[in-house]
Amino acid sequence: MTDATNRKPIRKAVFPVAGLGTRFLPATKAIPKEMLPIIDRPLIQYAVDEAREAGIEQLIFVTGRGKVSIVEHFDTAFELEATMSGRGKQLDVLDATRIQPGNLVTVRQQVPLGLGHAIWCARAIVGDEPFAIFLPDELMIGVPGCMKQMVEAYNRVGGNVISVLEVPREDVSSYGVIQPGAQVAHGLTEVLGLVEKPRLEDAPSNLIISGRYILQPEVMRTLEGQGKGAGGEIQLTDAMARMIGHQPFHAVTFAGRRYDCGSKSGFVEATLELALAREDMAADMTALIKRLAATLD
Ligand code: G1P
Repeated sequence: MTDATNRKPIRKAVFPVAGLGTRFLPATKAIPKEMLPIIDRPLIQYAVDEAREAGIEQLIFVTGRGKVSIVEHFDTAFELEATMSGRGKQLDVLDATRIQPGNLVTVRQQVPLGLGHAIWCARAIVGDEPFAIFLPDELMIGVPGCMKQMVEAYNRVGGNVISVLEVPREDVSSYGVIQPGAQVAHGLTEVLGLVEKPRLEDAPSNLIISGRYILQPEVMRTLEGQGKGAGGEIQLTDAMARMIGHQPFHAVTFAGRRYDCGSKSGFVEATLELALAREDMAADMTALIKRLAATLD
């Protein structure tokens, strides 16, 4: 497994997008939370862009009721394109939404039984090869992107690779937390244990799993028949924890910015910072923020 010649490329990525998005109601009553835009791109687009930058070809969306617009977003919009072309408008703004025919697959998670269950729903499409997972709520901005950094680590150590980052100790109970082992290289650590949403006093560190994974297909077998864990849900973290000791397991500390777009303040933070970083918006946004800051004490 750790032999470089045994390392299959990461060609497939699973995007669990069946969640109800209750934290953003009423905005998410009729549209999926993954379609909420940060400026002019929906959240799912950022995750898909990150996947493609890392060389991933096939996108597997684990969807549910009311999520059709996510799939439509990545389809050809004939009327729109014909109308825009007829008016002499450029279509390159739509380039990122184009998927090679056959490379977008959806499966349904009929009942919300947890992240582990959502991933398991994709088992037949994933088949017998390592694959990536993206939680689109976590917006990761870096050069290179988070998954590309992880694929580089995977090419080196093989096995399973997850991304982690440090959070204030008092926040650990909202996340999966790793027990770090030896540092293998700068930003690359062995993982000795994993625990989902531990109590503060039981947390093995303040390094949390930040929504990006490269996993071996054995995780699907491990998820099979797995009982409920934290919060009464079938947890991916529990399945991964059971693989430690049987397969290499490493964590990459993502070098970049992470925004928790599952929370309202994280969403606004991402919007402001990404707008400030854009050439076409930076001047207006800087003026706006200075004006607002002057009204505060
Ligand atoms: C999930 C994972 C957790 C991870 C988190 C990152 O939790 O189960 O291990 O740290 O995503 O956002 P959720 O946010 O779905 O409760």
